[in-house]
Amino acid sequence: MAPLLSADAVASHFREVLSCTDELVTKWSSLGDDTNKIQPFPDLNLLNLEATTLTLFGKKLNCITADGPPHPMLQAMEDSTSEAMKRPTRPKLLNFLVYGSKFRRATKAMRAYAQDVIDYRKANPNPDRHDLLWAMQTAKDPETGKSLTDSQVVDEIISMPIGSSTAPCAVAAGILFLTQNPHVVTRAREEIDAVVGEGELTEEHIPRLQYMAGVVRETLRLSFAAPGFNIEPIPREGDKSPVLLGGGKYEIAHDQAMIIVLAGVNRDPAVFEEPTAFRPERMVGEAFEKLPAGVKKWFGNGKRECIGKHWAWEFLVVVMTELIRKLDFEAAEPGYAMKQDGWFNVRPIDLSVKVKPRAV
Ligand code: HEM
Repeated sequence: MAPLLSADAVASHFREVLSCTDELVTKWSSLGDDTNKIQPFPDLNLLNLEATTLTLFGKKLNCITADGPPHPMLQAMEDSTSEAMKRPTRPKLLNFLVYGSKFRRATKAMRAYAQDVIDYRKANPNPDRHDLLWAMQTAKDPETGKSLTDSQVVDEIISMPIGSSTAPCAVAAGILFLTQNPHVVTRAREEIDAVVGEGELTEEHIPRLQYMAGVVRETLRLSFAAPGFNIEPIPREGDKSPVLLGGGKYEIAHDQAMIIVLAGVNRDPAVFEEPTAFRPERMVGEAFEKLPAGVKKWFGNGKRECIGKHWAWEFLVVVMTELIRKLDFEAAEPGYAMKQDGWFNVRPIDLSVKVKPRAV
């Protein structure tokens, strides 16, 4: 699966991500003065599901513009991941009797989403489309020669929208930071207007949008959309002596797992002057290169590093560029601060903003 999520593979989906983004931009642009106070997070969640399903599995859900309740996959992801977090610390009987049906219902809805995608592809075969679903269904493990079973394909389809659910959190946090820092919007627009002009955003523009890259990195730093990850020492045969870290400053047991808490790492005052300030310029060019590798771990570390990091990067750059380029956001609740609501990612879920087409 990894080659299908490489930077090159992801670039081939650029136009699909852009077209989904523009559906949302159109939706938000057409709100009247009386309806333009919105919560951006639910719509960004829909955008993420739409773009993930289209690019990785080749099915257009049309869930951004659909009337009625949000796509059931979103609630099912929410219910299953929150349950997965809470279950290990509850008595087993309570999990089974009280929460079992919620978990089973969510699992059933997620598997129905995946099966729907599989059925759609079967009914609409496209032999030229070599995307992630194609790899899941046809590729063989190079070492064992085995393919995924049908049930494993369903599992893997489900893990993608769940993995990518951090991306809309980051964008919603980005909108918050932009409303708090209008000078960043001005500077980003100067760059976008100079590079892209009046025409359509294209893949070739992206490497030239250096300040925008800084906006996205600074958003990832301050949103810590994935709040942390585990690391543990590589096992050493027969050697139980402690592991020394930080040049001997820290001593930990040979088998001690650790959680890296990105809210701390990303706002380390020893590295970042005024660590809670939103300053994209510290994330651009040489300034970014000079930062220690340890403060750039928003996509995790080592073998467990995010498999979707290139997809996420493209999504974040395209979405944030299009939002800044085409829309004006205004804080609807000055003083709003992001909250940790108990899930595994930090989410500005109840953030409200006023949105309208960019003033010319
Ligand atoms: C802002 C966007 C994102 C952030 C900050 C992020 C962050 C992370 C982090 C820190 C991990 C490592 C977790 C660990 O060590 O246990 C991870 C794993 C993962 N991510 Fe992402 N991610 C993002 C977007 C995405 C996207 C767009 C996808 C899919 C298209 C994705 C799919 C996954 C999957 C499947 C894993 C598990 C990989 C494994 O355990 O082998 N993520 N992500």
